[in-house]
Amino acid sequence: MIFEIFLTILLVSLIIKATKRPWNFPPGPRGLPLVGYLPFFSSWDPQYPHEAMKKMSEVYGPVVGLFMGPSQTVISVCSHEAVKEALLNDDLNGRPYSAVALARAFGEKLGIMFVTGQFWQEQRRFTMRHLRDLGFGKTSIEDQMMGELGDLIKDIENKSQSDSERIVNFKGIFQVSVINILWAMIAGERFQRTDPKFQQLLTANELIFRSGNVVRGSIPIPAFVLKHFRFVRDFIGLKTELIEPIQKFIQETIEDHQHRNLTEEDADNFIDVYLKEMNKQKAENPSTNFTNKQLISTITDLFSAGAESTSGSIGFAIIHLIRDQQVQKKMQMELDQVCGEFFPTLNHRSSLPYTEAVLMEAQRCSSIAPLTVPHYAVKDTTIQGYTIPKDSVVMLNLDAVFKNPKYWNEPEVFRPERHLNEDGTKVIKNDHFYPFGLGKRLCLGESLARNTYFLFTAALIKKFRFEPVPNGPLPSLAPTNGFTLGYQGFKAVVTLRS
Ligand code: HEM
Ligand SMILES: *[C@@H]1O[C@H](CO)[C@@H](O)[C@H](O)[C@H]1NC(C)=O
Ligand SMILES: *[C@@H]1O[C@H](CO)[C@@H](O)[C@H](O)[C@H]1NC(C)=O
Ligand SMILES: *[C@@H]1O[C@H](CO)[C@@H](O)[C@H](O)[C@H]1NC(C)=O
Repeated sequence: MIFEIFLTILLVSLIIKATKRPWNFPPGPRGLPLVGYLPFFSSWDPQYPHEAMKKMSEVYGPVVGLFMGPSQTVISVCSHEAVKEALLNDDLNGRPYSAVALARAFGEKLGIMFVTGQFWQEQRRFTMRHLRDLGFGKTSIEDQMMGELGDLIKDIENKSQSDSERIVNFKGIFQVSVINILWAMIAGERFQRTDPKFQQLLTANELIFRSGNVVRGSIPIPAFVLKHFRFVRDFIGLKTELIEPIQKFIQETIEDHQHRNLTEEDADNFIDVYLKEMNKQKAENPSTNFTNKQLISTITDLFSAGAESTSGSIGFAIIHLIRDQQVQKKMQMELDQVCGEFFPTLNHRSSLPYTEAVLMEAQRCSSIAPLTVPHYAVKDTTIQGYTIPKDSVVMLNLDAVFKNPKYWNEPEVFRPERHLNEDGTKVIKNDHFYPFGLGKRLCLGESLARNTYFLFTAALIKKFRFEPVPNGPLPSLAPTNGFTLGYQGFKAVVTLRS
C-alpha cells in the first residue's frame, strides 16, 4: 500500500515536472509525461538525428527546446549565430554524464572527452602539451605518416593487381594506417596491417560508433535502469561488451610499459610520459588525478576519436572524387604540376589550393561529426536570449551550418571552387565552416587530423586513378549512422597512374 502511494506521488510529480516548461525556454514541441518527446523525435527523420533537428528548426526556429524522458531538457541548435554563441559560451562547455560516457570509463568520470571542470582542464592541457611535443601536427611525424602511407599504397596496389578487373574493396581499409600514426605517439609502436588482434579492436571500435545514437546516447539515465532493462541499453546503443576488449588491450599495453626500466630520454611516447607524471604526482599527493584508470580512459578517448573520424574523412573524400571524375582529374593535374614525381608533403600544402579546396568541400558535404560531441549546461545560461536551464543537453548542429543556403549557394552540390578566390589561386576561409568545432572544446586532434587527411588523400589521388565499377552502382554518399557518420563500404576500379 505504502509503495503504491509512493509510486502515485512520484508519477504525479513527474507529470507536473514534465508538462511545465521553464520560463523563457526555447520554443519546441511538447511530449508526453514521463517520456517527454523521446518517442516522437525520430518521426522528423527516422534515420539521422541531425536531419530531424534541421526539420524541427524549420518549424520552431534555430533554437529548439525539448524534454526527453521525465525531466531532461535537450536543446537543439541549428543556426551559425546560435551554434557559435553556444560553442564560445563556457557555461555550455560541460558534457552529459551519459550511460555511454560512463561505460567507457569504468562507470567513473574519466578521460577527456566526457569530463568537465578543473579535472578536464588539467588532463586536456597535459595531453595536448605532450602530444604536441611528441610530434602532433609537426613535420617530425611526417616520416611516420609517409611510412604508413607507403604500406597502404602497397596494400591497395596488391588488391588491385590480384583482381582481374582491378576492383578494390575499400571497407575499413584506412583505419589501420590512421591509428598507427596515433599509436606511435601513444605507445611508441605500430601494428601490422593484418594483425588479427588489432583488426578485432578496430572492428569493435567501429561497432561502438555505428550502433550508438547521438541523441539517445547523450541522455543521462540512472544506472539501475540500465542494469535491469536490457531494452533501454539497446535503445541508447550502449555496447559495454565492445568497450571492454579495448580497455583490456590498453591496460596490457600500459603494463608492458611499466615493466620496462625507463631512463629519462626513453620517454618518447605518451604512455611513458604519463606514467612518469603519475609516479611523480603520487609521491607528492596520493589523491592526484593522474591515475592508471585515467590513463586508460584518455587513451580510449584518443583511440576512438582518432580512428573513425580521420578514416571516415578520407573515405568520403575518395567517394566524392569517384563520383566526380572532373574534379579528380583537376586535382591530379595540380598535384602533378606542384609535386612532380614526388609524393605531396606538408611543405607543398600551401601551393596546392585546389587540392585544399577539394578536401574542405568533402568535409563540408559529409560532415562526419554533425552534432559535435554533445555539450551540457553547467549552470543556467542563455542562447540567443533564451534561457537554457542548468543540466540541459545541448546539441550543436554543425551540419545545419555547413548546409545552410544562406551561406552556401546550392549547399547540396559538391563544388570545391566555392572555397577559392576568382582565379583559383587562393583558398578563402569561410566563417561558417568549422568542422573541428570552436572554443575550448575544440577537437584535440585537429592538427594531426588535418595533416593525416591531407597527406593520405592527396597521395592516394596522385598515385591512383579511382573510377566507378562499370555497370555497378556509384559509391554511396549516404552516411552510416552512429555517434559520428561513417562511409558505407564501397568498391572502385583502381589503376596506377604513371
Ligand atoms: C577529420 C577528423 C576529425 C574531425 C572532423 C573531428 C571533429 C571533432 C569535433 C567536431 C569535436 C567536438 C567539439 C565540441 O564538442 O565542441 C571533436 C572533439 C574531440 N576530438 Fe576530434 N575530430 C577529428 C579527429 C580527431 C583525432 C585524430 C583525434 C585524436 C587524436 C581527436 C580527438 C578528439 C578529442 C579527444 C575530442 C574531445 C575534446 C574535449 O572534449 O575536450 N579528433 N573532434
Ligand atoms: C582533480 O579533480 C577534481 C575533481 O574530480 C578537481 O576538483 C581538482 O581540482 C583536480 N585537481 C587538479 C590539480 O586539477
Ligand atoms: C597480396 O595479396 C595476396 C592475395 O590477395 C596475398 O596473399 C599477399 O600476401 C599480398 N601481398 C602483400 C605484400 O600484401
Ligand atoms: C629492471 O630493473 C630491475 C632492478 O634494477 C631488474 O631487476 C630488472 O631485471 C630490470 N628489467 C629489465 C626488463 O631490464
